[in-house]
Amino acid sequence: MGDKAAPPSNSRRYLLWAGGAVGAVGAVSVATPFVLTMTPSARALAAGAPVEVDLSKIEPGMMVTVEWRGVPVWIIHRTPEMLAAIPKLNDKVADPESTQSVQPDDVNKEQRSIKPEWLVLVGICTHLGCSPSEKLKAGADSGLGDDWMGGFYCPCHGSKFDVAGRVFKGMPAPLNLKVPPYRYLSDTHLVVGEDAKKGA
Ligand code: FES
Repeated sequence: MGDKAAPPSNSRRYLLWAGGAVGAVGAVSVATPFVLTMTPSARALAAGAPVEVDLSKIEPGMMVTVEWRGVPVWIIHRTPEMLAAIPKLNDKVADPESTQSVQPDDVNKEQRSIKPEWLVLVGICTHLGCSPSEKLKAGADSGLGDDWMGGFYCPCHGSKFDVAGRVFKGMPAPLNLKVPPYRYLSDTHLVVGEDAKKGA
């Protein structure tokens, strides 16, 4: 499957908003659209058609945002360093195994993904619905302290999430960020809005 204006299936839209690189703030708000192709009709999209994403364009450490059912969905290409941070934070997050949180059954509950390097999250805070800012870069440059290991920050009331979308203890947000249904079409393409049971 090529990566150049690859024709999507009739039932899927093929839309990518370019997100920020590591360290960029507010990937949703600063997103610059580059639309590869768009199908099917706007009416079908409003009804919640699945969204196909070309992963080959997302470098390690970067994220893109797509819109699915009217909400932002983030696709994050996690680095080995990001993945290594996750178990180190298990005693600092409120629900390390995501027993109270929303994700498909085939998602690893700690890493919160099907494949470790690819994280797919609904970019809506589980407190009162703001869209958190991307804070993937670790360290003091994040503005969240020297010991920040990368993740997301909700500017509305200060909830912090790690790079698996798990909320830290003592935050206003009660649950980890939601993982939407998604499945892989190939090593380089996934579709948001369909779960694995519907797979090819
Ligand atoms: S809406 Fe995110 S912390 Fe309140």
